[in-house]
Amino acid sequence: MNFATFAPGLAALQIDCIAVGVHEDGELGPGAAEIDKASAGAISRLLKRGDFSGRSGETLLLTELAGLKADRVLLVGQGARRSVNRQNWRRAVAAAVNAVARTQINSLAIALMRPAMRDLDDYHCARAVAEIAGHCLYRVNALKSGEKAKPTALTQVQVGPFKAAAAAAKARRGLRAGAAIALGAKTLRDLANLPANVCTPSYLAEQARLLAKRYPKLEVTVLDEAAIRKEKMGCFLSVTRGSDEPPRFIVLQYRGAATKQAPVALVGKGITFDSGGISLKDPPAMDEMKFDMTGAASVLGSIQVACELGLKLNVVGLIAACENMPSGRATKPGDIVTSAAGHTVEILNTDAEGRLVLCDALHYARRFAPCAVVDIATLTGAIVVALGPHHSGVFSNNDALARELIESGVRGDDRAWRMPLTEEYGEQLKSNFADFANVAGREGGSCTAAAYLAKFTQGLNWAHIDIAGSAYLGGAKKGSTGRPIGLLSDFLIRRAAAD
Ligand code: BES
Ligand code: MN
Ligand code: ZN
Repeated sequence: MNFATFAPGLAALQIDCIAVGVHEDGELGPGAAEIDKASAGAISRLLKRGDFSGRSGETLLLTELAGLKADRVLLVGQGARRSVNRQNWRRAVAAAVNAVARTQINSLAIALMRPAMRDLDDYHCARAVAEIAGHCLYRVNALKSGEKAKPTALTQVQVGPFKAAAAAAKARRGLRAGAAIALGAKTLRDLANLPANVCTPSYLAEQARLLAKRYPKLEVTVLDEAAIRKEKMGCFLSVTRGSDEPPRFIVLQYRGAATKQAPVALVGKGITFDSGGISLKDPPAMDEMKFDMTGAASVLGSIQVACELGLKLNVVGLIAACENMPSGRATKPGDIVTSAAGHTVEILNTDAEGRLVLCDALHYARRFAPCAVVDIATLTGAIVVALGPHHSGVFSNNDALARELIESGVRGDDRAWRMPLTEEYGEQLKSNFADFANVAGREGGSCTAAAYLAKFTQGLNWAHIDIAGSAYLGGAKKGSTGRPIGLLSDFLIRRAAAD
């Protein structure tokens, strides 16, 4: 996809289609007003006939309007003028791209009414357009034997109008960032959507190696089972025990700044399939546990964004990848294992495996003396109950880091909500036989899971993002959402001070 900006003067714009906004009360957005004038009132007449309501997300394609260089105009409903905000502006952009994707249109100019500058400046607006376009044009790489879905004709998206050269330059920077974010999201979604018999721990490691081949600033090291054993990752190994698929511990190092600059560490849960192990899950929706490696995919995707943009910071990505399966060799409830950090853990429920792989990965992060450690995991069903699909849950031992991530979620339109991480939750993890247990009952399940991780991150500037609710959709729209690439990308971009 090609992205560019356009200058004022819609009538003279040489393009296949211009998308303009119309409000619910029949009021024309600035782009629509300009086109109406150039075409001697064609849009006003159409609205008078009642053919378009302007409801948020509604679209209508008009062809061959007189007085325009462009072949087509797409009317996009933007709801009531007063209530144009970030959310429904995004919905309008997505509606425009989706409508155009069903046609043979190659080039689209987006001249929609924008919400107040305060919310969405030139850079962020353009970044969002590129990211939304990528999101809407994404097609699942389905393993269907029939005819493949045709790629869409759309190859060029322009945003504007920008009068000042400085504003256009900011927008172009935004488009570049948005295109990189879209690419990172595609990487994540492709991996997460793959079935677990294809996307194995070894497959994830191979994808990481391919990324390192593509980007010279990225280096990848893969630890096999013997190397993982040498690291004494007893908790991680306890999860993979029941599986015939070998585990992988993947270390990615992106060097975008001086070596002495402390890196950001991103740690991803990479359970390529979570059956629950001996604490076997119920059959309904068990297939969705192929998405249990989305944290790992988000590490790969966001590091790709850093590579694409050449962000000036250092990032370490750590991925603990394995399957959680039952078998005669599998870890049993009550088994006690020793973590890489040296604590003994009583595994009361083998389905609480995410925290077991993460605690050893978090310990491994210490050797990089990171300035911040962020783990990303589809960790608990309880976060789905608490926040639904809308927000990811953020837990942190550092208020500034929590705030930073939540603000990145707002700017990246990939929101997160702070959750509590106080001592009481940690105290619930008492065990009669080991230093602590891996579970503490149903209540506050997301908080006790985070409290477990907190035992391994003392002294680190650490945050945990529980994405179990936001990472994928179920039902008819089943599939990866691409989240939390938006949040993580903004976080890295801001940390590199490159926006
Ligand atoms: N991968 C699941 C969490 C999950 C649940 C993700 C639903 C997406 C949707 C995790 O490994 C798990 O099984 N967690 C258990 C923990 C419990 C045993 C303490 C859960 O949430 O039920
Ligand atoms: Mn589980
Ligand atoms: Zn899991």
